[in-house]
Amino acid sequence: MKVTLSVIKADIGGFVGHSSTHPDVVNAVREHVEKEVEKGNLIDCDILTCGDDIAIVMTHTHGVDAELVHKIAWDAFMKGTEVAKKLKLYGAGQDLLTDTFSGNVKGMGPGVAEMEFEERPSEPVIVFFADKTSPSAWNLPLYEMFADPMNTAGLVIDPKMHDGFTFEVLDVYTGKAVKLNTPAEVYDLLALIGSVGKYVVKNVYRNYDGEIAATASTQRLSLIAGQYVGKDDPVLIVRAQSGFPAVGEILEPFARPWIVEGWMRGSHNGPLMPVSFEDARPSRFDGPPRVIGAGYQLANGKLIGPADMFKDPAFDKARQVAQDMADILRRQGIFEPHRLPAEEMEYTTLPKVLKKLENRFYDTEVEKLSEEQKIEKEDMD
Ligand code: F6R
Ligand code: MG
Repeated sequence: MKVTLSVIKADIGGFVGHSSTHPDVVNAVREHVEKEVEKGNLIDCDILTCGDDIAIVMTHTHGVDAELVHKIAWDAFMKGTEVAKKLKLYGAGQDLLTDTFSGNVKGMGPGVAEMEFEERPSEPVIVFFADKTSPSAWNLPLYEMFADPMNTAGLVIDPKMHDGFTFEVLDVYTGKAVKLNTPAEVYDLLALIGSVGKYVVKNVYRNYDGEIAATASTQRLSLIAGQYVGKDDPVLIVRAQSGFPAVGEILEPFARPWIVEGWMRGSHNGPLMPVSFEDARPSRFDGPPRVIGAGYQLANGKLIGPADMFKDPAFDKARQVAQDMADILRRQGIFEPHRLPAEEMEYTTLPKVLKKLENRFYDTEVEKLSEEQKIEKEDMD
């Protein structure tokens, strides 16, 4: 049976500030989507939260980019926004960038990750959901899961994985994509995806048979909106086992925290901390960035789960290391490299502050000249 797994997420109001979601808002979203399951429009649904974001996990048979499914998510977020506005939650409805739905939520604010596949005799999937960071946060772990044999033993051992995987990489500024075949083109892949401000892994396919293995949300809210409206906290779907990386190989990159863009005001580098569902409430300096892992087994499209994959003491060390990394970076305060480089800051509110200094810059050489010399120089110029 062909099933589509769609995860559509949005920030429709924070409680308190940008740290978490309010249960009444989450319930309003859940109620709307559950009704659609009852009507038969969806096979099943689940709601996840991470920080101030809500993700709707849906299974159905309508394929990717289905108007019906996107509208269900959009309407659910509208219902949630009504509640968020009543409670005057922070940034109520902030990711719903237009008033009217026009066929597909892409470009309208919410983030989307969807894949369609023939459900295997047993179909384990993991939905990762992060807050206070951007889709390029997945570049490093996706490389490790699908192209690094030091992380994923299956690349060496499992015949179905031995041919490697193909990465589809998106240039978020031009909207153009390129497919790179690993292991042959692994250095080209790394040449691109190491630039996390520009390149984002969108999809990963298994070379053995072209099966979809992973898909991520890649919308850059800042570019869609033309102004800063928050980092576009991403979701990622990964299929596991039997010719895909094992659950443990998929989770392993998160045992060693790395630094991602986001955190306070979407303007800082910080460690991505893997946490249990209940700890996905970033509050220290609005962070540090968090990631949850929700594991499901699909059973004829039904979502059996979620299992809270990072609620494992084996990730305690990663959490401690992330805290230590956070301390080191916080020591830098407003200075780079804690603060993002200037070109990334263009999509924040900083240019507004810098604008008023624009006319106050002067040429230090010209300043040394006498008034006559200045006039002479101006004439010559
Ligand atoms: C980061 C984030 C927060 C806000 C910060 C300031 O993604 O959402 O760190 O940027 O709390 O928020 P405003 O500008 O709304 O006061
Ligand atoms: Mg968020």
